[in-house]
Parts: sequence; C-alpha cells; structure tokens
Amino acid sequence: MNRKVIGYDLNVVRTDIIKNDARNIPLADNSVDFVFIDSPYSDNIKYSNDKNCIGKISCEKPDFFDELEKVAKEIHRILKPNKVVSWLIGDQWLKRKFTPTGFLLYQRLEKYFEPMDTICVTRHNQTSNTGLWHNRARRFNFYLRGFKHLFIMKKK
Ligand SMILES: C[S@@+](CC[C@H](N)C(=O)[O-])C[C@H]1O[C@@H](n2cnc3c(N)ncnc32)[C@H](O)[C@@H]1O
Repeated sequence: MNRKVIGYDLNVVRTDIIKNDARNIPLADNSVDFVFIDSPYSDNIKYSNDKNCIGKISCEKPDFFDELEKVAKEIHRILKPNKVVSWLIGDQWLKRKFTPTGFLLYQRLEKYFEPMDTICVTRHNQTSNTGLWHNRARRFNFYLRGFKHLFIMKKK
C-alpha cells in the first residue's frame, strides 16, 4: 500500500528496528500519519539492561506514568494534525494488588488526544489462560486478566 513504516525500540532484536528512546523521537513535528505503540505495562518483564527502559519502573509508581506521558507528548509532536495514535497496554495484578494501568495511562493521554474508540484485545494464547491459573484464581480469589486495552485516539 506504499506505506513507509519506521519501528523504534531500546532493545533491538531485528535489523529493521531502529534503537531509539521513545521520549525523543528523531522525526519532525507534524510529520507522521499514524503511531502504534506497545509500551511496557509495568516492571513485570525484563526487556533489557538499558537503564532508560521504562519497563524498569513499576506501574504502581506515578513515575511510570510520568515517563509514558513524555512518550505521549513526543507522539503528539510528530503526528500530523487530526492524526491517530493507537496505544496497547495491559493492567496489572501483582501480589493481590490490582493496578488499572490502562485507565491511569488514559488519564494522561486525554491531555493530548481525544478518544475515538477503545478496544479490548483478548489474550487467547496467553499463559494465564491455563488450568493452573484458573485454579490459582479460584484459590486466591482474583480475576484472570482477560484482555488488554487498545486506545484509539486523535491528536488534539
Ligand atoms: C510490551 S514490549 C513491546 C514489544 C514489541 N511489541 C515486540 O513485539 O517486540 C515493550 C517494549 O518497550 C521497549 N521500551 C522500554 N522503554 C523504552 C523507551 N524509553 N524507548 C523505546 N522503547 C522502550 C522495551 O524494550 C520493550 O521492547
């Protein structure tokens, strides 16, 4: 479809991905038509040893959302007027504590973008959809996280 795609990550595992911090994107203001981002959801996974990895901060801390807000500002800067960002994020249940990571991020995104849609992305092939986790959920009385949030938002 003659689209030009640029992929950034701090942890580069493919030759077609460019190593870059999402808080400082090397693109001009108002220059891109669409942004998709699958940011860290918390410090639940060790992505790399890079000290700038936002996935080293727990989503239980406001700093996590402060850093994601810097990314949101950058996305706002590079998007053309009225163009769209699509942001994927999951909530956290850890040590009997639920953190609504998606809604907490959404509050930050609202400053820069207006909502068009939110989509619940199911996790059919994820490891929590097993008998072991079903048993644990019953035993320890928690809900299995069934989906992630996909926020579709337009530049204000
Ligand atoms: C949920 S994973 C997304 C993985 C990706 N969708 C894939 O399939 O490989 C979050 C990613 O954010 C990256 N990341 C964390 N902090 C970053 C930052 N400041 N700038 C750019 N990427 C960052 C991590 O290295 C990790 O690969």
